[in-house]
Amino acid sequence: MRQTLSTLRKTLANGRKLSMLTCYEASFAQVMDAAGIDCLLVGDSLGMVVQGRDSTLAVTVEDIAYHTANIARGSRKAFLLADMPFGSYHESPAQAMRSAVRLMQAGAQMVKLEGGAELEGIVRQFVHAGIPVCAHVGLLPQHVHAIGGFRVQGKAQSDADRILHDAQVLEAAGAAMVLVEGVPEGLGRRIAETSHAITIGIGASVACDGQVLVMQDMLGLNASPARFVKDFTKDLPAGEGGIIERAFRQYAEEVADGRFPAAAHVYGLSGDDAAAYGGQRPATPPAA
Ligand code: KIV
Repeated sequence: MRQTLSTLRKTLANGRKLSMLTCYEASFAQVMDAAGIDCLLVGDSLGMVVQGRDSTLAVTVEDIAYHTANIARGSRKAFLLADMPFGSYHESPAQAMRSAVRLMQAGAQMVKLEGGAELEGIVRQFVHAGIPVCAHVGLLPQHVHAIGGFRVQGKAQSDADRILHDAQVLEAAGAAMVLVEGVPEGLGRRIAETSHAITIGIGASVACDGQVLVMQDMLGLNASPARFVKDFTKDLPAGEGGIIERAFRQYAEEVADGRFPAAAHVYGLSGDDAAAYGGQRPATPPAA
């Protein structure tokens, strides 16, 4: 049976965290199901890892719909999310609704939008139409040119307060999930601990309800991975075959019991919070 928001919440209530990976193809979706990955995201990262571009900006609703339909056919169990790409929800409420409807009809169970409190109206509109929403806060790759690169966000107190406020406003508007990307650990933890929505971290905090990684990153295909990436193929016993499924399974298990992320995968870990990572501290200060 396919996961729903209710089954995801039940898993959390039973004390297990949620694993999410990006996925763009039926064959990988099938293997992720077999490995027990809870949620598959058709991320607009496909612009970079599938289409070979240097940002996500050129990805279209049709691109996401195409890949969503593929993973919906390939998987039977995981909860499916689709990214609303750059420019697909800012023109008007009607345009936003058309984009979201297209993705839900392609097979998504939830759409993800990048942005802050300014998206409150769109989130309310979607929720009233029965479209579950994941709010993506913190580092927003669709804003790469506005923020001057893929940089950790929320280092200054005023920025941290704004990002926390973004998460709170979007949750109050009805977002059932909040994805927090690229922020200092303390801010990720604060969002996770104050939110009633399901929180998913990437370069955020182990305190989140779950974690997400780009599939190609965690399979070691990225030559210059960000700090929050772990290559899950690295420590697997060699010569056993099935390495991709085993890497997915290892990821699911390490997320489920809070072993991933470790201190090495988060930014600006404070002394107080280091205990949650077995007292480890990151070896180097956070990258800008
Ligand atoms: O597009 C994407 O891959 C994302 C990441 C946060 C996982 O949104």
